[in-house]
Amino acid sequence: MHTRKVSVIGLGYVGLPVAVAFGRHQQVVAFDISEGRINLLKQGIDLTKETTIDELKSTELLYTNQPDDLKMADFHIVAVPTPIDNANQPDLTPLKKVSTMLGGVIKRGDIVVYESTVYPGVTEEFCMPILEEFSGLKGGIDFFVGYSPERINPGDKNHTFTKIKKVVSGQTTEILDIVASVYESVVEAGVYRASSIKVAEAAKVIENTQRDINIAFVNELALIFNKMGISIHEVLQAASTKWNFLPFEPGLVGGHCIGVDPYYLTYKAQQLGFHPEVILSGRRINDSMGKYIAEFTIKEMIKKDMPIRNNTVGILGVTFKQDCPDVRNTKVIDIVNELKSYHITPIVYDPIADKEATYHEYGVELVDIDEIMRPDILIAAVAHSCFKEASFQQQISQTKMIIDIKNIFDKASNIIKI
Ligand SMILES: NC(=O)c1ccc[n+]([C@@H]2O[C@H](COP(=O)([O-])OP(=O)(O)OC[C@H]3O[C@@H](n4cnc5c(N)ncnc54)[C@H](O)[C@@H]3O)[C@@H](O)[C@H]2O)c1
Repeated sequence: MHTRKVSVIGLGYVGLPVAVAFGRHQQVVAFDISEGRINLLKQGIDLTKETTIDELKSTELLYTNQPDDLKMADFHIVAVPTPIDNANQPDLTPLKKVSTMLGGVIKRGDIVVYESTVYPGVTEEFCMPILEEFSGLKGGIDFFVGYSPERINPGDKNHTFTKIKKVVSGQTTEILDIVASVYESVVEAGVYRASSIKVAEAAKVIENTQRDINIAFVNELALIFNKMGISIHEVLQAASTKWNFLPFEPGLVGGHCIGVDPYYLTYKAQQLGFHPEVILSGRRINDSMGKYIAEFTIKEMIKKDMPIRNNTVGILGVTFKQDCPDVRNTKVIDIVNELKSYHITPIVYDPIADKEATYHEYGVELVDIDEIMRPDILIAAVAHSCFKEASFQQQISQTKMIIDIKNIFDKASNIIKI
């Protein structure tokens, strides 16, 4: 049994479920820089929908945006964003800010465990020196760092924080033991002790890079088979009857993990003079899918003598993945923008998406269900469960043409699958 007092810094998709899991057993200092987020959480409102109001009300979380409150804890878990900039380079600003702040509050014996996805070396070579500078303490002697990557899958109610094996790492064997015992106290699936912090960092970044490359492969197959008039979905179904065929589906790769993390790895590789071919070509294919889908739609409209200029195309779904309200870095926007360049007005229906964020980030005002019935052409871009329901599919069954990217409709004369 550990005796550590936990704080969680960054209460987003990752941090909040972590804080809630620990909050079932002890009081947790739950820190976020966003006052708005803190105020909502105090009222039991989690806009990410990763936790329920009951979970929030039944746990002992001390919500705060005051750094001094973190002094109550001696085991700090950091789950702040690790985005990329416009040039696809890692943006470590949130990690820098949080490490600077933590430098001002940590004391001798404290452990800081980073959960944010990074390239190997960030914890020890980027974050720790900042902690040292602002605390005046020595990492590895006065305080310690660890790394434990997060594997949650937003919107997935089966693979939740406590049910996924947790990779843990620490600066020394003793620290690894403490990090492991702290996580073991809440993660039912248990922990895996990585041999070093860099191994743990690398393991996370390759998990998502592997998915990215595999999806890029099936996306490339989709482009090839479309030219041959063969359904990629039917091909995958047939091929998947072999015992070792890997089940990946074509589609848009957005969000802030699979489409982003590979760039962390390629950035570090390039810094070391190695120029990755496979990883970056996969990225290029996946990033081009939105444009491809829009152009494919235009070609189908031409084939069917449908007017292009000033026509309206409806899009089903705007989030970066199914059953999750998150619209950050969604590639559906690439479809919207490409259609606009052909003077086509896209309208978007998504009952799951965060409406305000969609408008704020992309200027797209989501329409309601009545409006999405009107266009002659629909693109089913996201496989939300509600779009798969028979009642919904029945409602839009009169649409002249439905471009089905996610294979959610049964075969019919008006359904075109990509
Ligand atoms: N969302 C996922 O599916 C997922 C899965 C595994 C790993 N990750 C990784 O976990 C990390 C966090 O991702 P997320 O999806 O939870 O992000 P998020 O944007 O949902 O949440 C991050 C939170 O951190 C807060 N924050 C930002 N800067 C801060 C600072 N300086 N101090 C305190 N709080 C700050 C934000 O206000 C926000 O509430 C990223 O590195 C991401 O790559 C995400």
